Amino acid sequence: MAWYDVFSTFYDQTVERVYRSYRARVVDALELEVGDSVLDLACGTGPNHPYLVDATRGDGRIFGVDFSAGMLKRAEAQAQREGWTNVFLLERDARQLTVADLEAACGAPVHLSHVVVALGLSVIPDWEAVFKATFELLPPGGRYVIFDIHAERWVPQTWVVRKMAQADLSRQTWRALEACSEDFSFEYLPGSPHIHGGRPFLASGRRPE
Ligand SMILES: C[S@@+](CC[C@H](N)C(=O)[O-])C[C@H]1O[C@@H](n2cnc3c(N)ncnc32)[C@H](O)[C@@H]1O
Repeated sequence: MAWYDVFSTFYDQTVERVYRSYRARVVDALELEVGDSVLDLACGTGPNHPYLVDATRGDGRIFGVDFSAGMLKRAEAQAQREGWTNVFLLERDARQLTVADLEAACGAPVHLSHVVVALGLSVIPDWEAVFKATFELLPPGGRYVIFDIHAERWVPQTWVVRKMAQADLSRQTWRALEACSEDFSFEYLPGSPHIHGGRPFLASGRRPE
């Protein structure tokens, strides 16, 4: 069994307790409107989904993509429990994702307007290529949001996160977004390296018109 399938059995009771308070802020940064279609890349157990469904008022489409069947099983259980019919979950390696995959999942043409990746680009191998490919799924004006942790200096908790989440917190993933977007914004959010392994940050930008 892959590590993230194992991790999924206790993710919501451990990691998510530390990150729950950031979710509303992360989804706000997307500036969603009713009917928008959002890709939640490396969506895990779906902790962003209640906020995404709320922000799109149950209209539009939310695509949760992750390569861990265990993580997606929990995201699927949440969607069933809540009766969401516009949340589509795909078991895919982010490195191979195409629009055709999203269209096959919902059975209709997809015009993606937003991408969010929370605690994902620090984990995904080849993250630069994945960022570029998913940024290019957006139309001009489409919005991309990254929420993650950055460690300038490594403290013991940075090593714990590396071991537990297989995350490389030295990656400055926002720089890739900054280099290709307009209306770029970056901020560190309240947090502590001794809890998060580094500093939580939120970055957003639009694909140039
Ligand atoms: C730390 S979790 C974050 C989950 C969720 N986005 C959140 O905010 O809690 C990282 C997620 O990335 C997924 N992941 C890692 N590498 C991936 C890849 N190459 N393709 C798709 N998902 C991947 C893992 O399965 C896991 O669910």
